[in-house]
Amino acid sequence: MAEKSKTTFYVTTPIYYVNDVPHIGHAYTTIIADALARYHRQKGLEVFFLTGTDEHGQKIEKTAAEKGMTPKELADRVVGRFKELWKQLNISYDYFIRTTEQFHEAGVQKIFQKLLAKGDIYKGTYQGWYCISEENFLSEDVPLEPEGYKICPDCGRKATLIEEESYFFRLSAYQQPLLEFYQQNPQFVRPQTRMNEVVSFVKQGLKDLSITRTTVKWGIPVPGDPRHTIYVWFDALHNYLTGIGYDWNQELFQKFWPADVHLIGKDILRFHAIFWPAFLMAAGLPLPRTVYGHGWWLKDETKMSKSRGNVLDPYLILEKVGADALRYFLLREIPIGQDGNFSHESFVQRINSDLANDLGNLVQRTLTMVVNYFAGKIDEPGEEKEEDLRLSSQFAETKQKVIEFYDDYALNRALEEIWVYLNTINKYLADNEPWKLAKQPDQRPRLARVLYQSLCAIKGISYLLYPVMPETAGKIWQLLAQKKKPVEIKLAELKFYDFQAEEPIQRPEALFPRLDLKEFIGEMDKQKSADKKETKPEVKRMEYITHEEFKKMDLRVAKVLSAERVAGTNKLLKLQIDLGTEQRQIIAGVAEAYAPEDLIGKEFIVIANLQPAVIRGIESQGMLLAAELDGKPIIPFFDREVPPGTKVK
Ligand code: MSP
Repeated sequence: MAEKSKTTFYVTTPIYYVNDVPHIGHAYTTIIADALARYHRQKGLEVFFLTGTDEHGQKIEKTAAEKGMTPKELADRVVGRFKELWKQLNISYDYFIRTTEQFHEAGVQKIFQKLLAKGDIYKGTYQGWYCISEENFLSEDVPLEPEGYKICPDCGRKATLIEEESYFFRLSAYQQPLLEFYQQNPQFVRPQTRMNEVVSFVKQGLKDLSITRTTVKWGIPVPGDPRHTIYVWFDALHNYLTGIGYDWNQELFQKFWPADVHLIGKDILRFHAIFWPAFLMAAGLPLPRTVYGHGWWLKDETKMSKSRGNVLDPYLILEKVGADALRYFLLREIPIGQDGNFSHESFVQRINSDLANDLGNLVQRTLTMVVNYFAGKIDEPGEEKEEDLRLSSQFAETKQKVIEFYDDYALNRALEEIWVYLNTINKYLADNEPWKLAKQPDQRPRLARVLYQSLCAIKGISYLLYPVMPETAGKIWQLLAQKKKPVEIKLAELKFYDFQAEEPIQRPEALFPRLDLKEFIGEMDKQKSADKKETKPEVKRMEYITHEEFKKMDLRVAKVLSAERVAGTNKLLKLQIDLGTEQRQIIAGVAEAYAPEDLIGKEFIVIANLQPAVIRGIESQGMLLAAELDGKPIIPFFDREVPPGTKVK
């Protein structure tokens, strides 16, 4: 919660990977952040709202290669998609950071160096399960199979235990400081259940963290040791510092750091609630106030994923209902910490009942009466009765509760309160029956009072709705012929009796047309199948290399002298090979297709000048070439004997 004396508010979203196009899940976090940013601006705080993209790492390198693009080309394209969506959703970010920006890279390198000098980063050997096909280390949580190996969760193939040189962050040293910090700052992780998860995880002990890779090219090089690139999470988390001036604008940085709230999905909680504060402690920087882990949006009770084909495309919904309806639905339907299910039925139901009926009808009916009975400009209202005073005092109470909920990031509760009050206005109108008063000429002052009270209430409530539905709030104020926009009034200045129309009120159009469920589902499906037809398989663009580049590879004929299995693996063979001028040892992942005795005496091609690697603790001094079919290797052999060591070109 913001402290009383604070004059700034710094909110962030995760930075999104550019190997995927934006979907409802990404939109959700960003909409929460936008609502909070807008609310704090209304409060009169100076707000910085940071979002952006996470552009380095193996996943992006790989996706780009599959699409025949460079990683930067892929990133540029996807960044365009994100920015376009944020524009359509009225996301009022202050800066969109990209981790490929020079100032970010420099900032990350600087912190890396600082921690290295301090001894919180050191060089060691990383041992982990590596998936050859995904070219990726498996996360530590992947369980060991009873046979003693791990299966890659992405491709389902067996992974290999390998070792490589790596820089480590001394996370183990921060176990106690973190536990103390959590205890002193119970609001650091929210909701509370997530804090409990984090604490119990940290209590189990923390291992040092490998934070560089030699297998990934597309990343920030380790300063002074460019064979290593910085692990994408170490790189990415620091965006929260570099995005507000760390190492390039001291004044800005001082003003906004530490962040008030990092909004994240629950899947990336450990990175933010454990690694991130530990990195900051090591760097001697203040820690963020809150990491808020929100739940997941599911589609028809299952997790959305590209492969299931159930990812919700926000553009489709936006086209049909506009930004505010989507913003409202996502923020209203579930408490921020919980998972929610996105079904077309519940979406249509909410739009129709909350927006078209409760809000839209109220505005339309009231304004239409002002036009019909007073030609758009109401007379001097008659004296206030008790129920009129009640409407205004209930507004004050609602405002207070809404503020408390917004301050507590409980956006759905704030919206609930707003709707309780909308119903209070509706009931006030039903009880006071202005349509009957209109038929009695002597009741004109009373009629004016009832409509005046209603206009005040509508103006006030739409102001409170502004953080979530900025366009609608603005539109309602315009319909009410207000000179100012909701954004131009500070929360503390908002009063119930502050209604003055600049011009006569005009007959309004419906704010939210009702949706027909069948038609809505039909349109979504139609659009989906049209999309499918349009998506042609991506034609891979060939990335040519020059003959010079090819010549750098030293391909040679090798003859197998001896072969044996590598103990504890199903895939690996240790081969002694004759390269003509020398003997070498290579480790080859071919044991599932070839028994050791099948290979003895055989000849095949190896890359002789490949940098040696340690696989399963054994050095491999070269690599044989093989095709892969259904996950199994097929080695090309020669159709006649060739002297070992003969060059292949
Ligand atoms: N690049 C990292 C974050 C680095 S932050 C220093 C990343 N990117 S992501 O694009 O995969 O995901 C970004 C966010 O979107 C995560 O917080 C994730 O939880 C959220 N969502 C992705 N799909 C989601 C849903 N279906 N529902 C709600 N949010 C989900 O992780």
